Amino acid sequence: MNILGENVIIASEKNIFSLTNKYYSYVFCVGGNGILEHIYYGAPLTDPINSFSHHYKTHRDGVLHFQGKKNYNLSEIPQEYPTFGSTDFRFPAFHCKNKDGNTISVLKYKEHFIISDKKLLNGLPSARGGKCNTLIVRLEDNLHKIEVDLAYTIYENHGVLVRSSKIKNHGNKKLELRNIYSSSIDFPASQYKILHLHGSWSREFSEETMSVPMGRFVIDSNRGSSSAAHSPFIALCEDQCNEVSGNVYSSSLIYSGNHSISVEKGEFNNIRLLTGINPFNFNWSLSPGESFQSPEAVHAFSKNGLRGMSHIWHSFIREKIAPINFKNKPRPTYINTWESSYFKVNQEEVLNLADKAVSIGLEMVVLDDGWFEGRNDDSSSLGDWYADSNRFPDGIQDLAIKIKNKGLKFGIWVEPEMINTRSELYKKNPDWVLMAPGRISSLGRNQLILDYCNEDVVNYIFDKLDKLLSGGNIDYIKWDMNRNMSEVGSPKVAKQKQLEVPHRYILGLYSILSRLTKKYPNVLFENCASGGNRLDLGMLSYMSQSWPSDMSDPIGRLKIINGCSYLFPLDVLSAYIGPSPNHQNGRITSVSSRFNAGAFCAAQGVSLNYSDIDKNKGELTDLVNFAKEHSSDMIGGNFYRLKKSDNVFCWQYITKDYEKVFLLYFHILSGPNKPFEHIKFVGLEKNSDYLQVCNDKLYSGNLLMENGFTLPYVSMTDDNNKVSYMPKGDFSSKLFVFKKV
Ligand code: DGJ
Repeated sequence: MNILGENVIIASEKNIFSLTNKYYSYVFCVGGNGILEHIYYGAPLTDPINSFSHHYKTHRDGVLHFQGKKNYNLSEIPQEYPTFGSTDFRFPAFHCKNKDGNTISVLKYKEHFIISDKKLLNGLPSARGGKCNTLIVRLEDNLHKIEVDLAYTIYENHGVLVRSSKIKNHGNKKLELRNIYSSSIDFPASQYKILHLHGSWSREFSEETMSVPMGRFVIDSNRGSSSAAHSPFIALCEDQCNEVSGNVYSSSLIYSGNHSISVEKGEFNNIRLLTGINPFNFNWSLSPGESFQSPEAVHAFSKNGLRGMSHIWHSFIREKIAPINFKNKPRPTYINTWESSYFKVNQEEVLNLADKAVSIGLEMVVLDDGWFEGRNDDSSSLGDWYADSNRFPDGIQDLAIKIKNKGLKFGIWVEPEMINTRSELYKKNPDWVLMAPGRISSLGRNQLILDYCNEDVVNYIFDKLDKLLSGGNIDYIKWDMNRNMSEVGSPKVAKQKQLEVPHRYILGLYSILSRLTKKYPNVLFENCASGGNRLDLGMLSYMSQSWPSDMSDPIGRLKIINGCSYLFPLDVLSAYIGPSPNHQNGRITSVSSRFNAGAFCAAQGVSLNYSDIDKNKGELTDLVNFAKEHSSDMIGGNFYRLKKSDNVFCWQYITKDYEKVFLLYFHILSGPNKPFEHIKFVGLEKNSDYLQVCNDKLYSGNLLMENGFTLPYVSMTDDNNKVSYMPKGDFSSKLFVFKKV
């Protein structure tokens, strides 16, 4: 038995492994046949399980007897790491072609180890350790000498279980790995609903809820990035579960490439959840002596519905995933040149925008796309990472210094994984791109993808970025990636290993990110991929914040943030006030609504042109001041989805010191004479009073939680004659601040 602190127990007795902390228990055992059998996952068990029995046996004739054991049929046994080829016909966690040319594997318990804390994975991002224990169970296929290490990490203070698998070839012939899921969980038969997040450019993180169908439901990516089409996240909600109560089992992956999360409802209504690298179009050859490490899957269990689940993810991501150097740091408010100027940026323009930024109190200028040699539109120059000599004659370092002399920070956009055929780099190295022999490479946004399987390419790009950053004048990098991968092949990788290219690419990406972020710990990195096309736990391990979407219209943005918030804390997101009419959907909205939709995100900015800034100077100045005043408040607190309907979003946020409470009420379409609703606050101190800052009204915490706060706040003159109301009209919103007194 092994105990960490008061609560975390990894017990292994009588062949039963029991992982328990204050949030959950996860129990499995070595079955009679050496197969690792799953027993239980859910609310913490108070007593250790000493004996149990699987009641999964049917009474039909002709049942398959696994390895001669009567009535032991793997189709009916919940397992920890199922294989294919004997008596289980469901999609396996492990599928591998052996020297005999078949894919039959039998993995049996060999030994186990318990280590205090947790090791970081080599070459892959992984959850940080600290106050945790890790159980490693070693399985073996005796016939082919394949060893599989299943790692399970349980933390004292987090409701997550981190799992991964490592395959070692101890045989004397090559293996071909096909499915190497990071984790598999077999749930007992029950009614579950699935919540998942899907989308596309400008409408990322749309939520869908559905009953688990019979058969297999899979969310995955074969686009080379985790993608907005299916975010690597799923929540399995037990039937009666809702926002605030019920059991939720959710899963995500610390990985940025092709992922797969599969939910299979089998013939006995039992459910198998697989999380890992997408096995489609994946094949990894493992020579004798070699090993393959899967990325880490993370499972969060909540017995308090989706809200409880989100809070578990939020705290885990802050503590164990997001880089520690910016963990508690308020983010600078900024102006971004993209929607203000697009490709028409030049030295003079940026300096003028910097003056505008100063005039409304912003703290950083971000020079977005368009600054490097010949980049007048999106058809050229990616790869040539030096300043355009006509538009930035004095270079980037000089510009950065001038901006810093105005009292601002300076940030810059790069897209280092891409190349245009119209570039110096492509002329010199046409074979530095992903491509397949005899195939014409499809362009995406006029660009090709650099071959990050090629070490020369990775080193070249590292050197270019190193040069940019080593001047010491760049405070922030926006790392963009604007296309899906097609004709995926690498001239550097052997013919037989071409299906390894997507994963090798991601390993190349992680190696450059890890080197750069280590070398420049004080540079704030922002992850972007045409918005939220690669917003995942892998990228967040290197970059403190992410641009969740190019949708800067507040109505579009609300839905995206709401979806994002199931998994991500809003302190890893950035937001800005974009133009109106909105460039993506043409909607006209007020400045305050554009701000309010992103008000709980950690990084706040604007992307407006001069005349829009001038026209709205007073209001922008007030909002920037508000953002600055609350920039540290927006880090580390608790976010609550109080209401979401077709027409209304209402969110609440409490700061981490519980001193301030923010309430955002947003309606999409207005209407006359609307009925009031009572929005009930949550998480307040019932014996404390809260002061509504806009009108100095005092409310008791108890009343705000039990009776609620009346909304929409249409119009009102309070005792001090201060008018405070929710503006009339469509797309209007009101952000309230309360202080505990
Ligand atoms: C896509 C990003 O999402 C935008 O914010 C902007 O940076 C453009 N790329 C620049 O090309």
